[in-house]
Amino acid sequence: MNPKDKLAELERLAEIGGGEARIERQHAAGKLTARERMELLLDPGTFEEIDKFVVHRCRDFGMEGQLVPGDGVVAGSGRVDGRLVYGFAQDFTVFGGSLSETNAAKIVKIMDLAVKMGAPIVGLNDSGGARIQEGVLSLGGYADIFLRNVLASGVVPQISAIMGPCAGGAVYSPALTDFNIMVDGTSYMFVTGPDVIRGVTHEEVTKEQLGGAMSHNTKSGVAHFAVPDDRTCLALIRDLLSYLPSNNLDDPPVVDSGDPPDREDAPLDALVPASPNQPYDMHELVQTVMDRDTFLEVHQHYARNIIVGFARLGGRTVGLVANQPAHLAGCLDIDASVKGARFVRFCDAFNIPLVTFEDVPGFLPGTVQEYGGIIRHGAKLLYAFAEASVPKVTVITRKAYGGAYCVMASKHIRTDVNFAWPSAEIAVMGPEAAVNVLYKREIDAAEDRDQRRAARVAEFREKFANPYVAASRGFIDAVIAPRETRRRLVAALTSLETKRDTSPKKKHGNIPL
Ligand code: HXC
Repeated sequence: MNPKDKLAELERLAEIGGGEARIERQHAAGKLTARERMELLLDPGTFEEIDKFVVHRCRDFGMEGQLVPGDGVVAGSGRVDGRLVYGFAQDFTVFGGSLSETNAAKIVKIMDLAVKMGAPIVGLNDSGGARIQEGVLSLGGYADIFLRNVLASGVVPQISAIMGPCAGGAVYSPALTDFNIMVDGTSYMFVTGPDVIRGVTHEEVTKEQLGGAMSHNTKSGVAHFAVPDDRTCLALIRDLLSYLPSNNLDDPPVVDSGDPPDREDAPLDALVPASPNQPYDMHELVQTVMDRDTFLEVHQHYARNIIVGFARLGGRTVGLVANQPAHLAGCLDIDASVKGARFVRFCDAFNIPLVTFEDVPGFLPGTVQEYGGIIRHGAKLLYAFAEASVPKVTVITRKAYGGAYCVMASKHIRTDVNFAWPSAEIAVMGPEAAVNVLYKREIDAAEDRDQRRAARVAEFREKFANPYVAASRGFIDAVIAPRETRRRLVAALTSLETKRDTSPKKKHGNIPL
């Protein structure tokens, strides 16, 4: 065969992967092929593929004759909104997308290039796991990838999409990356599948129940996003990348939304209900204050008592952390603490300023929480906020009680600007609980107990359930009208643009994992 024909033939074989029949099966299952996925991920015409003709080296189990150029993974670089991104897509039509020595080497190659170039890494996972025929060579390939995931962590953003099977040790690469997106109905992740579980624990569970998109989005928190199909998944990755810098030395892109930075929002003055125990939806504050239609919620279905996500304020990316009084009264529990901590650390690693909206009655009480380790998990959120050296701005809308006051980006853990609304209540605990401790004997002995309790509660509320003690100490920089929150936040973040802060030199800290 002449060289030109040889090239054309290799190209054809690489493009067709596992063949038409398997491509049809992939489509029939509601999934796009690896190549179709890469094309949709990247700006049109920008995909630069590498190692298209790589084949496996396995000589066992009849593999000699089965050589498919590319060997089950499509890898390379391209542009997303004009910015360089490296990515790979496992090709399920070739040996079930299973990971071989050579296919792992392709992934490792683009990860190394991404770190050198300071560009994000996107992994599209759809694989039967370790290439069974290759044994330990495949396992070694996984470990090579895991090492890169760890070394790249905090250097370039890493995003994983689960778009098919992802089982066994294979789950640990996505687990090490910053964000996991799962396609509902066609993807699953688990360390051990339903058959093994049945054998070991006699538990009956389906693949979907065990490791489907909604299980990991609502129960385990392993996944940060659930999407209905491949196209939405790839569009979401592009959207997510638009908020992020390319690397830890870069700033996030500025995108002018046309939304005036000094826009005032009169309805916010009535957001907090008159009764302190009445919930309200913190999403309303988020949606109102941020640049119009820019809020991208992360972990939307998990630990809904805390809201985290990216948005833009005056065109600049911010990481938003907010208690949600409409769920569990906004208490911090184990899941919320871990969710918040991981998000805060991501933002800090990638120069994304943190905006915190606080309405938290405290940590969730109970044996489930205490035995589950709320002490060490709550400490993660405290550690993350305290460690963060990016610009930090906090707005207390209502409750800031007890340890949760300290944790939620208080002034004391080097938050730069702390605002409070006039409705803020900053105290060691709520008035009712405080009165029960301080005046229990007095109230028990009184003839008019209810009146006495009410009088003490009113007295306590008057003294402590407001922002003015904190403001008189400088723990709150300004008490602001709710309607001016957006303007004040934009102004604060503009001043903080040149912020530099350092921490003591160390190898690394010891966050209470
Ligand atoms: C080699 C594999 C493969 C694998 C699938 N195939 N998994 N080839 N190594 N791990 C091949 C199949 O032989 C088949 O080839 C094609 O891919 C499609 O597979 P099907 O079974 O026909 O597809 P489907 O019915 O959709 O089932 C998909 C599946 C199943 C659930 C993923 O294939 C499966 O259970 N595979 C094995 C999963 C597994 O146990 N992997 C090892 C996990 S341990 P043909 O030629 O027929 O198209 C692991 C350790 C990692 O991964 C450790 C890291 C530290």
